[in-house]
Amino acid sequence: MAESPPTALSAATVPRHIAVIMDGNGRWARRRSLPRHAGHRAGVKAVRETVENAAKHGVDYLTLFAFSSENWQRPREEVSKLMGLFVEALRREVAELHRNNVRLRFIGARDQLDAKLIDKITAAETLTADNTGLNLQVAVAYGGRWDIVEAARTLAARVDAGDIRQDDIDEEAFAAELQLADVPDPDLLIRTGGEHRISNFLLWNLAYAEIWFCDVLWPEFGEPEFESALGFYAQRQRRYGHTGEQLEAVKC
Ligand code: FPP
Repeated sequence: MAESPPTALSAATVPRHIAVIMDGNGRWARRRSLPRHAGHRAGVKAVRETVENAAKHGVDYLTLFAFSSENWQRPREEVSKLMGLFVEALRREVAELHRNNVRLRFIGARDQLDAKLIDKITAAETLTADNTGLNLQVAVAYGGRWDIVEAARTLAARVDAGDIRQDDIDEEAFAAELQLADVPDPDLLIRTGGEHRISNFLLWNLAYAEIWFCDVLWPEFGEPEFESALGFYAQRQRRYGHTGEQLEAVKC
């Protein structure tokens, strides 16, 4: 028997989990004849505002794509300044996030990062681990394909070790090995900067996400844009493979 849709019938209008591809920092800077790094700096302010907006509107989980597996290919200076910016942002923002009951976690290939950044990440995660407000996931050195391959490797190793059988591997077992294993799938993906792509973000987890693209560049993404995205989401009918008529029938 087909599974019933997880949340389609509850008519929740605020997404429980929002994922964001923050694009457009470089163009924002170029339009002002500034170096790209100035765009990333301006992007931190938009991150802060988005975290506040998510908490204010009752979103439970917010996952931000800060640095992809592919971003290592950017000029060395840009990568190094971005890594420095992450360290600085953690130094400046973590106490405030903690005061606001935010639980902060990082996903991605942590072993690829500098020791200093790893230390900051670990300290921030430890400090905020018991917080019960917004769950904020930041993806750094993350790629959706990498995540899936890592999960496959873990499961293969468990089969090798005799811990599980090959037949035990189903969607649930697979999802349990992904970076966001204990986080519900995103309901809404927001991408700024005018491109209409997923760019190797949460490939598995975004299977049923509604997707909202906007032309606004990330540093200019504020409350009006956040609310437009929520408005878009509230009007979607989430069908999970069912027909619209099936969902209407259950609602009546
Ligand atoms: C994409 O814009 C943005 C990034 C690769 C970096 C995102 C980083 C931040 C917003 C800064 C801080 C983040 C945190 C979580 C503290 P782009 O450079 O690709 O822009 P472009 O497409 O206009 O060139």
